[in-house]
Amino acid sequence: MARHLITSALPYINGIKHLGNMVGSMLPADVYSRYLRRRGHEVLYICATDEHGTPAELAAKAAGLPVEEYCARQHLAQKAVYDGFALSFDHFGRSSSRQNREITQEFARELHANGFVEERSVRQVYSNTDGRFLPDRYIEGTCPYCGYDKARGDQCENCTRLLDPTDLIDARSAVSGSRDLEVRETTHLFLLQSRLEGEVAAWIDACGGEWPTLASSIARKWLTEGLADRAITRDLDWGVPVPGDVWPELAAAGKVFYVWFDAPIEYLGATREWADAAPAGESRDWKSWWYEADDVRHTEFMAKDNVPFHTVMFPATIIGTRAPWKKVDQVKAFNWLTYYGGKFSTSRRHGIFTDAALELLPADYWRYFLIANAPESDDSSFSWELFASVVNKDLADTLGNFVNRVLSFGLKRFGDRVPVGGRPGEAEHALGEEVAGLLAEYEGHLEALRLRRAAQALRALWSAGNSYLEAKAPWVEVRTDEAAAALTLRTAMNLIHLYGVVSAPLIPATADAMRAVFSLPAHGPAAELAWVTGEQAAALDLVPAGTAFVVPPVLFAKIDDERLDAWRERFGAG
Ligand code: 2FM
Ligand code: ZN
Repeated sequence: MARHLITSALPYINGIKHLGNMVGSMLPADVYSRYLRRRGHEVLYICATDEHGTPAELAAKAAGLPVEEYCARQHLAQKAVYDGFALSFDHFGRSSSRQNREITQEFARELHANGFVEERSVRQVYSNTDGRFLPDRYIEGTCPYCGYDKARGDQCENCTRLLDPTDLIDARSAVSGSRDLEVRETTHLFLLQSRLEGEVAAWIDACGGEWPTLASSIARKWLTEGLADRAITRDLDWGVPVPGDVWPELAAAGKVFYVWFDAPIEYLGATREWADAAPAGESRDWKSWWYEADDVRHTEFMAKDNVPFHTVMFPATIIGTRAPWKKVDQVKAFNWLTYYGGKFSTSRRHGIFTDAALELLPADYWRYFLIANAPESDDSSFSWELFASVVNKDLADTLGNFVNRVLSFGLKRFGDRVPVGGRPGEAEHALGEEVAGLLAEYEGHLEALRLRRAAQALRALWSAGNSYLEAKAPWVEVRTDEAAAALTLRTAMNLIHLYGVVSAPLIPATADAMRAVFSLPAHGPAAELAWVTGEQAAALDLVPAGTAFVVPPVLFAKIDDERLDAWRERFGAG
């Protein structure tokens, strides 16, 4: 059986992420990891904060903190939110770690030894006031084409023309506003990607066909445009230093690697952090997940803007090392989640942020909504109205109400043990077949990373319980045939247990609550079960008659108009 390495794109360190970031990388990776673990696979789910680069430096400056301290704090703040969302990372690392520095420098040495790195002199804008080189997008000025006065050095937002910073009229630093800018010569390392283009193309031809369309089409489009050599160093204070043994002059000049060079390497770095953090007595072999790791299946989750880096640039880096480092097997990409059709934006704090979301409602509400509405084939739009209707219909009515009705009624009529009596008949067999079919569908969608459809299949499983209950009407049966009512309730209680098992990837806390309803023995078929087979699902008898149960508190509270209005008001709707 393959070992599964799962990674989600590393969130930038500069601030708490919004729901769009969550649904476009970490949450689906978590759902998939949880599913595979339950099915008995060996899984390693790795993520980390992406800590280098100009945005981190500037955010630290704005916060009035040294950048190391800013990153340390923000890492903990993000980690707390992800714990709140029940993300089951095996390790949540930091790209500024020693491990990442070592591996990044090693990769650079290997690329150099193989002739894929070259020093080139470039001309770049230097701000005397800020005492730093300015990346193109930190230079502002008037667009020479349309006259827009806030055009950036890389592009004019107004007319979308691509620009060179020297095109700008009245150029100034976006950091300080200073106009005291000059063009200076500076030397950088270039990765000669153009020489690797053929090999990357051959690799994508061989593997990319397996990827879902969004990822493979972006990868191909990127390749058709050709792979240009690219600068992999920057003149910044904060980053992985260029190794002095290979490039003494550049190291002395304080060059660091470009954030997009070291960030994907942090997937390996964080795996090594995970291994180094092994508790006493446990040995973890990080390299076996990455080096000559043919038995490992690596699945990456990311938003679509990250696809070129993961499918073209990083593979080119790996290929250039000429060492058997693992390349990605499966790439799951996402479109954008919008907020009433507009952009979620971290910098403008527009939309809903993950920390604020958890202040309103527990994670499972968000997890289910986001997966059920994941922007897979197209963008999808968040609105409070849609959110409330999904929560109320699917979670509160279809699932929560079913669980409560069955258990409360069972308690009232038969006491606190799963009722004894009756023999499964046609209705139970039909239900069993339906449930087994839906379970197979659900599994198929999860295996194929079709998350929305997985959520639909799960909801259909919950609905099957409601239809069965309505059709059998145990509250009527009980008046004339107690054994029939007992059978119906026992079957429905078995459904609750089944829901407790199979809902876990999407709504882990609620799934635990559903399983905890029943006092199942610590050993035995139901207790030790990680997942259910189709046969077990069809038989609906893992929770035997006589098992003690409790009625849990309401699983999902409905969102009433008052709360809906308050949230629309607070977050601004539309
Ligand atoms: O786009 C982003 O949010 C980046 N921080 C993703 C990095 S993914 C990986 F390669 F590190
Ligand atoms: Zn313009």
